[in-house]
Amino acid sequence: MKISRRNMLIGLGATGVAGLAYAQFGGTTTSTIHSTGAQALNIPPLDDGQLEGGVRSYDLNMQTGVSQFFDNVNTASFGINGAYLGPTLKMRVGETVRMNVNNNIGHTSSLHWHGMHLPADQDGGPHQTIENGSSWQAEFEVKQNAATLWYHSHMMGETAYQVYHGLAGVIIVEDEQANSLGLPQDYGIDDIPLVLQDRKFHPDGRFDYTPGMEERMMGHFGDTMLVNGTVNPYFDAASDSLRIRLLNGSNARFYDLSFDDGRSFHQIASDGGLLEQPVKLTSLVLSPGERAELIIDLSDGKTATLSSKTPGSDDFFSDVINILGSSDGRFKILEIRPNEQRKAAIELPTKLTTLDVVDETIAVKTRTFDLDMGMGVAMMLGNVGDNMSINGKPMDMKHINEVVKLDSTEIWHITNSSFAAHPFHIHDVQFRIIDRDGKPPSPTEAGLKDTVLIPEGESVRLLLKFTDYADPDSPYMYHCHILEHEDEGMMGQFTVVA
Ligand code: C2O
Ligand code: CU
Ligand code: CU
Repeated sequence: MKISRRNMLIGLGATGVAGLAYAQFGGTTTSTIHSTGAQALNIPPLDDGQLEGGVRSYDLNMQTGVSQFFDNVNTASFGINGAYLGPTLKMRVGETVRMNVNNNIGHTSSLHWHGMHLPADQDGGPHQTIENGSSWQAEFEVKQNAATLWYHSHMMGETAYQVYHGLAGVIIVEDEQANSLGLPQDYGIDDIPLVLQDRKFHPDGRFDYTPGMEERMMGHFGDTMLVNGTVNPYFDAASDSLRIRLLNGSNARFYDLSFDDGRSFHQIASDGGLLEQPVKLTSLVLSPGERAELIIDLSDGKTATLSSKTPGSDDFFSDVINILGSSDGRFKILEIRPNEQRKAAIELPTKLTTLDVVDETIAVKTRTFDLDMGMGVAMMLGNVGDNMSINGKPMDMKHINEVVKLDSTEIWHITNSSFAAHPFHIHDVQFRIIDRDGKPPSPTEAGLKDTVLIPEGESVRLLLKFTDYADPDSPYMYHCHILEHEDEGMMGQFTVVA
């Protein structure tokens, strides 16, 4: 028996649907419990590491802290070298980096470099655990395009909880080609990261992360936006061209971003680096784990308010919206206030970089991955973990699902027979999208990607090349980046062998 999403949601009953209504479509940006006036956007400190004998090393201390997201309200949180989130790590292509990671959060953890091409045993995935009170070192060469990547806890079964409490940060990879384009690159001034996270709080200020069955199934949604850990943020812009590096660091929420005044903007990069040309847009959807770099033009001197609505097109949770009869649920992300004195606008290059032609004929193998959430009834009985799977198999740390040959090019065909959209992420490789349901990807998705949105019922083909690193004993992960789904088992492992 196959239960449709609509019937299943109705089957959840009044509390279930009301819960979803609040969580996914409430649309408020300030918690009903706590509030604060506008606050200056927090810019995570830039960490350039320290050059020691040709290796750039970073000291990263995973720690507990107390954050004040609201006036006079303390929230216990996790952070890296701080109370919440971590520094922005700046790296250069061609350099070897060393990460000295200490764990003092009181739980076993791990720290994964999302989007990095690197040896599997340096990846910081669920096999590279760090006990509380101990440390772990990763070392690898930065061998990919300039890009906005990120790092976060990848502790088996605990990723959602640990990331929710703050174990994440941004990585900026630079190279000479990208630096020569005249793009804004003055960190914190005309080049800023925006880590988008929705959160829920208890009346006493604690994070409210106790996902029940529905939240483990649909994902955990908050009623308060944190941007770089700031509630209700504004940014004073000192330039007419502002580069923002967006990271959807949320556990489950998709964002459909646009400006309140309808102004257009340019996307210049996707997950793995620069697009070939800037793409002019008025809105952009970002699913958990994805990044995008945008150039915003502020030469009109007017305040530009970036907002989101929960995606409501047919591709997403539209049945839920229909059931609820929800309004568009628009909520504020960031108010950008242009200063009186501003650096002049840049001339946006028409050509940003050259990427390989996507040639599927060079692929030597096609693998199919079907994302499944099982049947609604089983989940209603609480057996979520038995249902979240890929190709019918939930994640098993002791099982290698796929073995890939080094230096081979493959097609990974991702299908989604579940009743929700999933962002599918693959470690180690920056891939290209061949097609979605047979149609070529839109220009915003035509560049390098490591996380790709797979809407319900859609089928997406990816072209991947596995280069440089082979290790039969250490697997890489692939998984849904809705962290509740990942923790519940929508994840698998592959090795690359010589
Ligand atoms: Cu962003 Cu496997 O993770
Ligand atoms: Cu990753
Ligand atoms: Cu999922």
